[in-house]
Amino acid sequence: MEQQADIFYRELPKVELHAHLNGSVSVRTVEKLISRKPQLNIKHDMTAIGKGQRRTLDECFQVFKVIHQLVDTEEDILMVATDVIKEFAADGVKYLELRSTPREDNNTGLTKRRYVETVIKAIQQCKNEEVDIDVRFLVAIDRRNGPEVAMETVKLAEDFMLASDGLVVGLDLSGDPTVGHGKYLLPALQRAKNCGLKLSLHLSEVLSQLEESDLLLNLPPDRIGHGTFLHPEVGGSQSLVDKVVKNNIPLELCLTSNVKGKTVPCFAKHHFKYWYQLGHPSVICTDDKGVFSTDLSQEYQLAASTFGLGPDAVWELSRRAIDCIFAPETLKAQLKHKWEELQPQAFQ
Ligand code: IMP
Ligand code: ZN
Repeated sequence: MEQQADIFYRELPKVELHAHLNGSVSVRTVEKLISRKPQLNIKHDMTAIGKGQRRTLDECFQVFKVIHQLVDTEEDILMVATDVIKEFAADGVKYLELRSTPREDNNTGLTKRRYVETVIKAIQQCKNEEVDIDVRFLVAIDRRNGPEVAMETVKLAEDFMLASDGLVVGLDLSGDPTVGHGKYLLPALQRAKNCGLKLSLHLSEVLSQLEESDLLLNLPPDRIGHGTFLHPEVGGSQSLVDKVVKNNIPLELCLTSNVKGKTVPCFAKHHFKYWYQLGHPSVICTDDKGVFSTDLSQEYQLAASTFGLGPDAVWELSRRAIDCIFAPETLKAQLKHKWEELQPQAFQ
């Protein structure tokens, strides 16, 4: 049975700003995908990292490869996106920014354009079914694929920003942080920024990216994913911190992901503490709720128990996340109103 404390975190209205579509696929959806493609002989333990388990980042990226094998048609993408959106809604998420890397597949006829269209279709279907969640989409660049593909992706995102009724709001830079260098991607990112796409960049996810982080911070991005090694205590630098603070760039922080992916040694040493104590905008997110076997309620609960946050502080944390969304100010105001309405229910 759910404990009273668990209920509080589930009832807490939440904003999810860092969720990779294919990393968010639940066990239930994986089961459906496996039954569609039994010939692949994929087992459940190949798509998720269970409780207490940890993997290297490299091993985590192998998991994404397996999931990508299972999700390679428009039908798969539609089902995955619809399921993921409904699962976030069931977890009390009221506003979600999903991100995903458009893929093409010659065998199934999938194109990158159809990929994006299908995610948008899933968002619209959930809206038509009146699922209680507002969803936006960030088109993702996989850094591994280099500058040309990055530029193509920006152009695709630009087209959809103009033709998706406000659903495509920005661009994500992600992928294996140990591969490639951000400096080659600067022209694409600059173009994205100039055309009005918001930028959320995975930054300083591993040590040894000081020069890259410095360059990317000059853009500046609108939000930072992880930022694990920005501050001097862990090998970053004060000048990086100063740039983040001066530009007031919110951080998307994913506790379980970082601990399971071994970039942070334990929850107590997570950089949430550093940024939260600084009073800097910090948003709790899941990253890959399927792969890391978590959900956003658990992540809030984990942050609260690890860093000693009481219910009022947790409420403030979730409410302040609204200021960091990429959707327009009008929606921020609506969400704040919703939080006010839901407050008595969460605290009863
Ligand atoms: P997709 O873009 O929807 O296919 O989601 C999976 C992809 O997200 C992976 O292949 C990576 O490119 C990216 N991704 C997921 N988690 C991380 C992370 O922690 N760091 C960097 N990239 C990530
Ligand atoms: Zn991520």
